[in-house]
Amino acid sequence: MSPAAQILAALRQQDGVSGADLAQRLGMSRAAIWAHIEDLRMAGFEIEASPHQGYRLVTAPDRLLADDLSARLGPIGVIGRDIRVFQETSSTNDIVEKLARDGVGEGVVVFAEAQSKGRGRLGRQWLSPAGKGLWFSILLRPNLRPQEVTQLTVAAATAMARAIEEQTGVTPEIKWPNDLMIGGKKVCGILTELSAELDHVKYVILGIGVDVNLALNEFPSDLRKIATSLRIAAGCTIHRAELAVAILQELDREYARVLHGRFTDVADEWEQRCTTLGQLVSVRLGDRALRGRAEALDESGALLLRTEHGRLERIIGGDVTVEK
Ligand code: BTN
Repeated sequence: MSPAAQILAALRQQDGVSGADLAQRLGMSRAAIWAHIEDLRMAGFEIEASPHQGYRLVTAPDRLLADDLSARLGPIGVIGRDIRVFQETSSTNDIVEKLARDGVGEGVVVFAEAQSKGRGRLGRQWLSPAGKGLWFSILLRPNLRPQEVTQLTVAAATAMARAIEEQTGVTPEIKWPNDLMIGGKKVCGILTELSAELDHVKYVILGIGVDVNLALNEFPSDLRKIATSLRIAAGCTIHRAELAVAILQELDREYARVLHGRFTDVADEWEQRCTTLGQLVSVRLGDRALRGRAEALDESGALLLRTEHGRLERIIGGDVTVEK
């Protein structure tokens, strides 16, 4: 952890820490601690200093800062070992793809306050205005076969639903495989991209977008009927850094379950949260369209669809619409 992250972690653990104490813990001079505190103040942290109580963290800014996220995260397994924040980028998936090709280890998470070319599934655009959401991508190097990668998407959707529920009190529903919905409107999407050989995954990029604090009028008119934000659903502004940390912790937990061969536990929770199962759905797969009842998930995370003609089709991609 960087010195700034260690200072923030100490200020969060204890209400009032002296400069001398911080200097001793971090192995640096009190003047150096003071300089780091000034940098944190410049970054928007309100830190009080009093001769009796020492330094006290009063408020944290609504900005994503790598040091702050690391300090809040505490001990984790894989996801969040390395956190990077960009003010603006084309797409965080592109940044992570470059890191992957450069050989960076798994677990790195790249956030952007804004994306100029955020992309969604099936070639769609993903609206990513500055400071309003969580737009981030994670690099994973799992020991999975390409056909098992859907497990990660299922795990990610489950983790996202749990973290959002914990932090906002609102329970999102999962629409297969990776959309989180509130009141029938989408609030979060997951774009899974991978590089693989025939039988072996080289790396997976999980790109996740959450509409956190957008107001209704901040969505373009064509999205207002189909998209929503956590702020609209919960009726209050959501602290993005706190939510981001809860999300990374849940994602890390679910990733461990997949890697340890416990996908069935993940799938059980996913099934409880998923509104697609049991419904009559239509699935668009490029030019092809299928209709049928969504019956279950298989062990690789694929959707088993009982078609109108009674056949069981295994669906691993495409666009699913629940029929009314
Ligand atoms: C979907 O279509 O539902 C998936 C949306 C994924 C959006 C996220 S935002 C962070 C990451 N970077 C991107 O360009 N896309 C993903």
